[in-house]
Order: sequence, then structure tokens, then C-alpha cells
Amino acid sequence: MSKCKRDLFKNADSFLKSLKYDVLDFEYSKLFLHDTREPIPIENIDLVISSPPYGDSRTTVAYGQFSSFSFDWIKGLNPYGDSDLKLDSLCLGGKKIKKEIELPSEYLYDALRNIRKVDEKRASEVYSFFYDYYLSIKQIVKTLNDNANVCFIVGNRTVKGIQIEMDFITAEFFESFGLTLESIFVREISNKRMPSKNSPTNKTGKTSSTMTNEYIVVMKK
Ligand SMILES: C[S@@+](CC[C@H](N)C(=O)[O-])C[C@H]1O[C@@H](n2cnc3c(N)ncnc32)[C@H](O)[C@@H]1O
Repeated sequence: MSKCKRDLFKNADSFLKSLKYDVLDFEYSKLFLHDTREPIPIENIDLVISSPPYGDSRTTVAYGQFSSFSFDWIKGLNPYGDSDLKLDSLCLGGKKIKKEIELPSEYLYDALRNIRKVDEKRASEVYSFFYDYYLSIKQIVKTLNDNANVCFIVGNRTVKGIQIEMDFITAEFFESFGLTLESIFVREISNKRMPSKNSPTNKTGKTSSTMTNEYIVVMKK
């Protein structure tokens, strides 16, 4: 067996043991797979800490592509199929929303208006992501106790050169369900797997900086 495979099995084994230990010793600790757009089967929550997707899993932070190697390892075992494209379509914003409803965020519509001027299709992809993101927030809010706190770490990516202020959009979505904004902390991304520059236009020499900061949005019910 190669060293790489041996290390993988060793890590997976200790990870499984730690999960088992937690579940056995602390009854409140559970790990489960769930699509957050659907009603969440837990309640009375005092604290939510989440790192949701930033909205462009096909390009900026390509979860599907990042997972393609792992998909190869677990071929045949993944209940969702072995294709990284299938994974992307299951993520928030993976499917285009045909009938748009009004979402409660002025920051979102400012960005959408500007993107739409240059690229209608990209604007509707951005909308589709935030539609799903809004559905998830709606489900999360239903699980909260009074005085609960929610901490979301988000990134303000750019689309067609226009920055999408996901931190403020997140705050506006939660506010629409009666929560109040406590604070937004800025965090420098220190060790990135992404390159510091990319070329979103695919034109030689024309580069843009990728994200260097993330924002921790703290809300209170
Ligand atoms: C920024 S990453 C967070 C990764 C996490 N902090 C970790 O260490 O694994 C966003 C995660 O949200 C997941 N995600 C995307 N759509 C989802 C959905 N509809 N329901 C639940 N999770 C989803 C993605 O698969 C991805 O793992």
C-alpha cells in the first residue's frame, strides 16, 4: 500500500474514532448531512457558526473541482453520484431561478443592477445564489432561541469587476427576519489555496486580485 493511501486511511480512522467518541460521550453532538434550503430538523439553538459558500462554486471557489480527486477515491460510494458537476448543481446557486422574487437587500440590488449592465447572464447567476442563500437563512432563523447569536464568515467577491458586499447582504437578510447586527469583523486570509491573482477575463496579462479579506458577520435574535 502506498504511503499516501496509508496516511489517508489512518486519518480517516482517527476522524471516525473522534466522531464516535463525541457521539457516545456527549449526546448533544451530532453530525448529519442536510441541505439548508430545506427545514432543518433541529431546534432551540443558541449559537450558529457557519462558513457558507460565497456564491460562485463554478469559478471563484470551485468546490466541485476541489473535490474531483476525493470523488475518485470514493467512486461508487457517493450517494449523489461521482461527478463534480453534479456536486456544483446541488450547492447554493447551482440551479438557475426562473421566476425571481424580491429579496430584502438593497446592497444586493445595487450590485445586480451594475452587473446586469455588462452581463445579464452573470447577474441572474448571482441572483440565483442569493435566492438560495436567503432560503437557507430563513430555515436557520426558524431553529433559533430568543437571544441566540449567529456568526457567518463570508467573502465579498467581485463579478465583472463589481464587488458584491455579501457581509451587508447577509446582515440585511437576517434583519428582514427580525435579527439585529452586532458587529462585522474583518479577517485577513493568511494561508490561501487560491492564487493571489487570477484572470477572470482569460485575456493574456489582464489579471485581478483574488480575495484577501473575509468578514465575520455577528447577528443577534
Ligand atoms: C465555505 S465552505 C465551508 C467549508 C467548511 N467550513 C469546512 O471546513 O468543511 C461552504 C460549504 O457549504 C456547503 N454547501 C453548499 N450548498 C449547501 C446547501 N444547500 N446546504 C448545506 N451546505 C451547502 C458546500 O458544500 C461547502 O462545503
